[in-house]
Amino acid sequence: GKGAAMVTAVAYRLATQQAERQRVLDTLRLSREQLLEVKRRMGEEMSRGLAKETHPGASVRMLPTYVRSTPDGTEHGDFLALDLGGTNFRVLLVRVRGGKRRNVEMHNKIYAIPQEAMHGTGEELFDHIVHCIADFLEYMGMKGASLPLGFTFSFPCRQNKLDQGILLKWTKGFKASGCEGEDVVLLLKDAIQRREEFDLDVVAVVNDTVGTMMTCGYEDPHCEVGLIVGTGTNACYMEEMRNVETVEGEEGRMCINMEWGAFGDLGELDDFCTEFDRAVDERSTNPGKQRYEKMISGMYLGEIVRNVLLDFTAKGLLFRGRLSERLKTRGIFETRFLSQIESDRLALRQVRSILQHLGLTSSTCDDSILVKEVCSVVSHRAAQLCAAGLAAVVDRIRQNRHLPELRITVGVDGTLYKLHPHFSSIMLDTVRDLAPQCKVTFLQSEDGSGKGAALITAVACRIRDAGPH
Ligand code: GLC
Repeated sequence: GKGAAMVTAVAYRLATQQAERQRVLDTLRLSREQLLEVKRRMGEEMSRGLAKETHPGASVRMLPTYVRSTPDGTEHGDFLALDLGGTNFRVLLVRVRGGKRRNVEMHNKIYAIPQEAMHGTGEELFDHIVHCIADFLEYMGMKGASLPLGFTFSFPCRQNKLDQGILLKWTKGFKASGCEGEDVVLLLKDAIQRREEFDLDVVAVVNDTVGTMMTCGYEDPHCEVGLIVGTGTNACYMEEMRNVETVEGEEGRMCINMEWGAFGDLGELDDFCTEFDRAVDERSTNPGKQRYEKMISGMYLGEIVRNVLLDFTAKGLLFRGRLSERLKTRGIFETRFLSQIESDRLALRQVRSILQHLGLTSSTCDDSILVKEVCSVVSHRAAQLCAAGLAAVVDRIRQNRHLPELRITVGVDGTLYKLHPHFSSIMLDTVRDLAPQCKVTFLQSEDGSGKGAALITAVACRIRDAGPH
């Protein structure tokens, strides 16, 4: 009768709604073939970035770092390090001991970078940095000390030597004016001079990936790749000098800062992008740029999730179709919320309370299940995409050395990698699947950016102090 027809109609509507949800989520799922294709294109772009002729037009910049060797354990001394470009800005004092009792001891202080400094002029930004250094020296009771300094500056920089870094482009939401095209060492030195209080000997500009590789390399000589999955994502690795056509010389190896976040900027990822990726990109500070990074790293994953939730809600598939102001607000889903929502130990009730905490109050139990599924699909794709890139890197190293099999350690750091409950294991499984001839091990770095900058500075000082030969 009539009742049965109604039940059928409701069942039908629920089934279509469910089908629509899955259809949307499927656009965020990548097949093994698609991942292999990502790996292949990354490999191709790496070659283009290294070759002199194609370098200027390559999306993956493959920037030489002038870091040629990992520490040998004899370096020693006290160093200052700056770390700009991650979740926090920090100033560090690093004491490196060599020989039998070799170890690294660190003191650091975290400073906020106010929005005005990130979005004002370069002078304001660097004045603020120097202000923090002065405060730190005072705090450590070292006013007036002049120590060699390593500057971890985690943005794409052109380097012609270790103590130079010409900023190519801001990433990760930074946009201080007057910095792009400038050498950040000079910007820092100018700011120090303006303050007329102390002098510093800037010895090295270091990308966070390189610092991470060096830190892990101090403990594991197989570590020849550095990986960051945090606010942004990027990787570096040891490349054969003969392949680095943008630097003179054929002997030995040099660490290459890939700047792989920009992979996709020439359209290499268009086949795999969804409407949500495009929405996130369009509303960012750098539309069209860092497309791979925007599908992987902590600064953007929450935004992808939010855009999916917006779409579901608008279609009446979630939150009873009610679009809250909160949900329309950019940046509400931080990495730590995603990590919490996906934690296996968390009861659904708790997912709901996180949603409530985010101002998404009208949620039902089914809503919580769906939100959790959206988060997990988005972070799963991120981990797999990252693994596909990494598979290209390790396979390239293996081929460089003409080896049928390569044992390699990847030093890794970053909030998403460290905080997320599943990211690391998905990435490990996927990279082993996509690069079966490489035996990849991950080594989490303890404070790679700070320690690494100091180690690189220490190596440079050791070589410099040993004289020209
Ligand atoms: C961005 C930067 C890159 C950095 C990465 C991780 O991609 O451009 O230099 O290594 O974020 O912090």
